[in-house]
Amino acid sequence: MTQKCSEPLRMVVLISGRGSNLKAFIENIANGSLQVKLVGVISNRHDAAGLEFSHTARIPVEVVDHSVVRDRSEFDRLLLKALEKFRPDLIVLAGFMHVLDDGLVNKYSGKILNVHPSLLPLYRGLDTYRRALEAGDSYHGTSIHFVTCELDGGPVVLQVRIAIGSNDNESSLASRIQACEHIVYSMAVNWFAEGRLKYTDEQAILDGKPLLEPVIMNEHDILDGVCEPA
Ligand code: GRF
Repeated sequence: MTQKCSEPLRMVVLISGRGSNLKAFIENIANGSLQVKLVGVISNRHDAAGLEFSHTARIPVEVVDHSVVRDRSEFDRLLLKALEKFRPDLIVLAGFMHVLDDGLVNKYSGKILNVHPSLLPLYRGLDTYRRALEAGDSYHGTSIHFVTCELDGGPVVLQVRIAIGSNDNESSLASRIQACEHIVYSMAVNWFAEGRLKYTDEQAILDGKPLLEPVIMNEHDILDGVCEPA
């Protein structure tokens, strides 16, 4: 799917909380550095703080509140219905704290990206900052990957590595990593929108070549504005 012609790629963002990545997408679209149409935002919590950014930017919102649905299958059905309404070309998970149902993942196979705050395959799941600090790791980071039915297990497209300093704690790591996410997540979405990034035969393909390992960037390159890896 190459979206180079007139119609911009239709992106839907799924959130559960603060929505700082959503805010970055909205800002990057407004300043022209992210070339997609954000057609909708879906939250599984009606009180997700990030919904404020969608309201301010007048982006349509759907809330599929997991706390009021009958059961898991009802939630999955309503989430799929909300997604279908937006006719997305790309679904972007940005702090969406609900595991997607296999049926939905398969229906949108190769069209779902997630950001996970670790250097995958290290530290799938929760509490990644704490786990990296407790393990005495020298580096932590974040990964942008295609979503498959395996939790945090789909092919990784891009990683940002940051050196853990002796003064770092969970909060400092989170803020350093999230500052990078706000830049590189849009970069990966642009690659997808330009048709440079695809998912074929269970592999991420960038510029026609399988990504045998993710594109690796360093915190300082990103904050210094070196946004395209060599
Ligand atoms: C991000 O740091 C991401 O790595 C993780 O959840 C966080 C979401 O933050 N999956 P926000 O809601 O975008 O501020």
